[in-house]
Amino acid sequence: MKHLCSLSLIICLFISCSPKQNHLLSPNKSLEVAFQLTETGAPQYCVNQDNETVIDWSSLGLVCTEANLTDSFSIVSYEQSSYDETWETVWGEERLIRDQHNEMIVHLAHPSGIRMDIVFRCFNDGFAFRYVFPEQTPIDLTVTDEVTEYRFTADHDAWSIPWRTEYYEGLWTKAPLSQKTDTLCSPITLELTNGGYAFVHEAALTDYPAENFYITDDALKLYLTPWLNHPSPITNNPSPKAYIKMPFASPWRMVILTKTLPEMVASRIMLNLNEPCAIEDPSWIKPMKFIGIWWGMHMKSMTWEAGPKHGATTANMERYMRFAKDHHIDAVLAEGWNLGWETWEHFDFTTPYPDWDMDYLAALAQELGVEIIGHNETGGNAADYERNLDTIYRYHAKHGIHAIKTGYVSPIIRTKDGLQWNKGQSGVRHYRKVIETAAKYHIAIDNHEPVMPTGLQRTYPNLMTQEGVRGQEWNAWSQDGGSPCNHVTILPFTRVMAGPVDYTPGVFAFENPVMPQTRVHSTLMNQLGLMVCIYSPLQMACDLPENYLKHPEAFAFIERVPCDWERSLLVDGKIGEFCIFARQERGAENWYIGGITNEESREAVVPLSFLPEGQLFHAHLWRDAAFADWQTNPYAFVQEELAVTNADTLFIPMAPGGGFAAELLQQ
Ligand code: NOJ
Repeated sequence: MKHLCSLSLIICLFISCSPKQNHLLSPNKSLEVAFQLTETGAPQYCVNQDNETVIDWSSLGLVCTEANLTDSFSIVSYEQSSYDETWETVWGEERLIRDQHNEMIVHLAHPSGIRMDIVFRCFNDGFAFRYVFPEQTPIDLTVTDEVTEYRFTADHDAWSIPWRTEYYEGLWTKAPLSQKTDTLCSPITLELTNGGYAFVHEAALTDYPAENFYITDDALKLYLTPWLNHPSPITNNPSPKAYIKMPFASPWRMVILTKTLPEMVASRIMLNLNEPCAIEDPSWIKPMKFIGIWWGMHMKSMTWEAGPKHGATTANMERYMRFAKDHHIDAVLAEGWNLGWETWEHFDFTTPYPDWDMDYLAALAQELGVEIIGHNETGGNAADYERNLDTIYRYHAKHGIHAIKTGYVSPIIRTKDGLQWNKGQSGVRHYRKVIETAAKYHIAIDNHEPVMPTGLQRTYPNLMTQEGVRGQEWNAWSQDGGSPCNHVTILPFTRVMAGPVDYTPGVFAFENPVMPQTRVHSTLMNQLGLMVCIYSPLQMACDLPENYLKHPEAFAFIERVPCDWERSLLVDGKIGEFCIFARQERGAENWYIGGITNEESREAVVPLSFLPEGQLFHAHLWRDAAFADWQTNPYAFVQEELAVTNADTLFIPMAPGGGFAAELLQQ
């Protein structure tokens, strides 16, 4: 991502002189982070918002087998600086992102001889900090614990999933922090008792384990994902979590802190905390809408493996590709095209099944101008995949494939370090290796069963989307009947805050012949609303072409909705109840609006004040019909067309489990 315009870059160094040298203010002065050492030299920080303490003095530091870096520190000096720059994204919810923050570096010395800095950044909408080991006589460190904590001053309601939730595919639940007895995955979204919001997560996770949390002693404490089967060299010490080689910077510990939900959703702190684009010319990376040979397997009308119901045959793929071309869909995914699905033990990523003609389909893709999205299911054998990455990506690139969906399925994967948590340090290294290698071959990645995203797509924009969510597929086969209606009204404020999601919206047929008790808890219009509400630059419309052809007028919205945006905003929402997003098409004046509700019907109120003043727009609205209902009447919808300006407000009824979509074309 290139730097567009340097608005101002003011570096001011105050070295150990200002009386407030240990206080860092946000640019608008509403947030304040303070640092101190206790009498025993233990580092701590606290946070005030509008002069009220939001986070009380909280511990910082790392326990390492080589030295206990939580105590006995002395302060060498402080440095403060300010930064204000706007940069342009390769793709995203926003074309331009402003990074305005103040920074404070606390240089610390430790009796072990180790020098450690803690770097704080304060934005108008949150703060972050990280541990940095600057260039010094190198000592390799084995981190057994990170004692970072967040002592929130009230017992806020928290939305979270437990840390053992396999690859983050759980239902999010809300309860006061004090009642969250499980260890929790990062991120966590807090509804603050004063009406504000907080989003607690990490940014720039590149060579460290993913963070988790637990609550004890009234504090939210960090728990790093451990290495498996790596006994600590010191008896009775907990198992190693991270191996550090100096110089080193940990991921950022980040909290978005805002008064309102739209402000929380609009925060771009996580991207700002990641490094700029490392790909010299990222112009080959293209947002795409896609369909795929996929839902049929989850609904059991097709199989991944070869046989009478094999999905990924040349003929079927050609049918999907021609449908895509006729309906303005950029790409087609095919799963089950390669050898290995019978046993899941030895996937071969360069040998198709005999009924898949890769050369023919590659040529057809060129002729039609439709991309093929490859699929590499590893079955959790990351080591085998990693060993062969160059060969695999060379093969795909040779066939004109510019995007691959990867998959691991197991939360414990076999890396080159043996069996490891996918979100442990070894897994994090593997995923990064995949992204970096794919970039060399101009391949974008849609990663399933990932480590939770942390904004790395700023540095590697070929990391386009990821799963790490209880996605649509659960509505095909989950024994619990499918995700409740409120699930999708929680995701934009929790999982999607961490990064783009391959949720796979767009189901157009709600009957489930194989598991009649399981189904999508949604109206047709809710599925349209999801195309806008759940952001992904690789956005799948997951249903079969024949189901789309049954509702061509509704499918028209999917044909038209873009997946790359100039601006995005939350018009209104309440976590777990409803949300309404408006997004401006990138490089155009057109706007797209999506709304979804939980099991309650409600009226969406959409003031169009975000439109440019004095301009007339032609609005095309797709909404639930009266008496539509996800259980009894999911297909009923109406369309309306009207002329609107920014002075208008739309009042749109949403059915139980329903929603709406709108396209506003500038006249
Ligand atoms: C799980 C993925 O989430 C799903 O999308 C994929 O179809 C299966 N694994 C098979 O790879």
